[in-house]
Amino acid sequence: MSLAGKIALVTGGSRGIGEAIAYRLAEEGAAVVLCARHLEPAAGVAKTIEARGGQALAVAADIGASADADRLVAACLDRFGRLDILVNNAGITRDGLILRMKDEDWDAVLSVNLDGAFRCARAALRPMLKQKQGGRIINIGSVVGSMGNVGQANYVAAKAGLLGLTKALAREVASRDITVNAVAPGFIETEMTAGIPDAIKQAHVTQIPLGRFGTAAEVAATVAFLASEGAAYITGQVIHVNGGMWSS
Ligand SMILES: NC(=O)c1ccc[n+]([C@@H]2O[C@H](COP(=O)([O-])OP(=O)(O)OC[C@H]3O[C@@H](n4cnc5c(N)ncnc54)[C@H](O)[C@@H]3O)[C@@H](O)[C@H]2O)c1
Repeated sequence: MSLAGKIALVTGGSRGIGEAIAYRLAEEGAAVVLCARHLEPAAGVAKTIEARGGQALAVAADIGASADADRLVAACLDRFGRLDILVNNAGITRDGLILRMKDEDWDAVLSVNLDGAFRCARAALRPMLKQKQGGRIINIGSVVGSMGNVGQANYVAAKAGLLGLTKALAREVASRDITVNAVAPGFIETEMTAGIPDAIKQAHVTQIPLGRFGTAAEVAATVAFLASEGAAYITGQVIHVNGGMWSS
């Protein structure tokens, strides 16, 4: 599954699933560019990759801000000269029942989870098409994008939209050997889920056939496979990594 010589860009790579993806792609031999809103935590992950013998670049970028996707891809090209793999991982939640949901909570979640992924994909496709050597775009969705969830209308709409973006883009760039897929995690142990009260966590676990939350490394393993040559004939798909809690 070697990614030697490949350049990967991971949004939201400073912690959680994005951090695990950055480490895993680097382990497979890719040079990794990772971003977060603040440089310091992203730089820490880049340093760890370099300490393990890999190549990495940390960039401060706000995926919700319209100019930052282009700036991020430009930073990647400046440092490594090409881009082969984009992982749209950055995501936020602003939960609330719809009757009480504020416009700014709706807008913030759509802007990072969906608009940001669209802008990063558009920016990344320019060098990928120019390189004429194919490419990989992997969007991190969520099980709730297929299943729905109470109190997450903004997040569910964004993740369902991301699946639509995945399928449309997959058809648009397939003739150029660029594959576009989504990985849809279920409940994964990260800071995003750390705030779930124990009783509710236990209730969720009873709905998961494998009887536990997943790990960020388990999501990263699926991303690494989709990024690899072995996944060359997979495009426009949603791969669920959810312990069996839901299937399409
Ligand atoms: N943890 C789960 O159970 C779970 C389940 C399904 C899907 N997901 C998805 O996986 C992805 C990662 O989730 P996580 O659990 O690791 O979350 P997390 O909150 O631990 O990490 C999110 C990452 O995104 C970055 N980020 C957030 N807003 C950003 C912005 N505006 N610009 C740049 N970077 C930004 C953060 O700095 C961080 O690196 C998200 O897209 C999330 O929706 C997570």
